[in-house]
Amino acid sequence: MIEPATTSADDAPRRVLLKLSGEALMGEHEYGIDPEMVRHIAAQVADAKQDGTEIAVVVGGGNIFRGLAASARGMDRSTGDYMGMLATVMNGLAIQDALEQADCPTRVMSAIAMNEICEPYIRRRAVRHLEKGRVVVMVAGTGNPYFTTDTAATLRAVEVHARVILKATRVDGVYDADPEKHPDAQRYSHIGYTDLLSNRLQALDATAVSLAMDNQMPIVVFDMTVPGNIARAIAGEHIGTLISGE
Ligand code: GTP
Repeated sequence: MIEPATTSADDAPRRVLLKLSGEALMGEHEYGIDPEMVRHIAAQVADAKQDGTEIAVVVGGGNIFRGLAASARGMDRSTGDYMGMLATVMNGLAIQDALEQADCPTRVMSAIAMNEICEPYIRRRAVRHLEKGRVVVMVAGTGNPYFTTDTAATLRAVEVHARVILKATRVDGVYDADPEKHPDAQRYSHIGYTDLLSNRLQALDATAVSLAMDNQMPIVVFDMTVPGNIARAIAGEHIGTLISGE
């Protein structure tokens, strides 16, 4: 079980932050939202929540729009990032819809006010929703350009005193080299924040890792394409790679 030290009291309910990449929602498609995939993810979250774990979700937007890629092709980076933040809102609404169809009460909270669509992100209100057993889907990143959704996930995890960040991706952990280019790359079961930073490993951006390190927030990177892995990660099974203090 991954029981890292945080400010949470030992008898407090386990609270986790699940980071879903936008690409996670594409399923087999090359773009957009695959409702089947979203249902599949929601079913695992709804199932895992039954043991009382409080679950916050931060979702990316790369299945719809990537600000960084657009800026590489001439668009102003801030504009591209704001468009990416809007993409995360669409993803968040899709996740809410699927979770509520799975009888899992869910609130979407946005870092950028759009009150007709979802609630504004207010930290204390998010915590109350979690305490009441609602899944809270946090969208629009941090509300600022130049910050990734991994950084948003770390910020929100620290703010709501989650015990761990569960980064659901399409690779099964952190490797010592890009496994697609280097077939002999080795996967870490555990790696320290400073090793991750000093080796310039691409699993997470340096801002997210630094923020996690400063706040002793552990991160688990795992492959969400393996059926049941989201539920396993939420239950605290050691899968993928644990990033934490040395
Ligand atoms: P409690 O205060 O714990 O009862 O939480 P609640 O979320 O059930 O109550 P509230 O009356 O705040 O919200 C009722 C519904 O309206 C929920 O689905 C909220 O997500 C939604 N809601 C609340 N505030 C906003 C908002 O500013 N904009 C939008 N679009 N929906 C909101």
